[in-house]
Amino acid sequence: MKDLLRLRTSLSEEIEALLNEQIKTEAYSSAVYLAMSSWCNRNGFDNSSKYLEKQSYEEREHMMKLFRYVNDMGGHAISPEITNIPQEFETFKSVFEIALQQEISVTAQFNRMADRCFKAKDFMTFQFIQWFLKEQIEEEYVARRVLELFDVIGEEGTGRWEIDKHIPKVHYDGDSEE
Ligand SMILES: [Fe+2]
Ligand SMILES: [Fe+2]
Repeated sequence: MKDLLRLRTSLSEEIEALLNEQIKTEAYSSAVYLAMSSWCNRNGFDNSSKYLEKQSYEEREHMMKLFRYVNDMGGHAISPEITNIPQEFETFKSVFEIALQQEISVTAQFNRMADRCFKAKDFMTFQFIQWFLKEQIEEEYVARRVLELFDVIGEEGTGRWEIDKHIPKVHYDGDSEE
């Protein structure tokens, strides 16, 4: 019976579960970025607040891209339950340290998924997640450059105000030749 049910989808149970985990991770990232946006707004960092709100939308889009793929493949995309969102952050800088850590761990999760897809010979999903791996190059790059602003500009005096002004201007043009 179980085998018959799997005729509805080419996704193995393992890959479907991994995709659903990733859906949850993207939803969590989206929620954390939103909490960061609120913290920055409350602490007078308006540009960062807007930048983080945009990041939150992007993570939501990532989640939906995965969500639709699972259902389009005949699987069961699960609307994730998200809990334990940090609402308070120690410092302005710590917001961006956490953001970078979050992106690095998302990259690792996609790498593990690529490895599992390869081993399971699920080349459709393997190909599907290439977009996300490429996206992570940009996400990590921007998160690192943003964090570097704290050292380059310095936090003394009007430093944090300057950093806040520069954050939305950080862009990745690594594939600008395309
Ligand atoms: Fe993402
Ligand atoms: Fe991200």
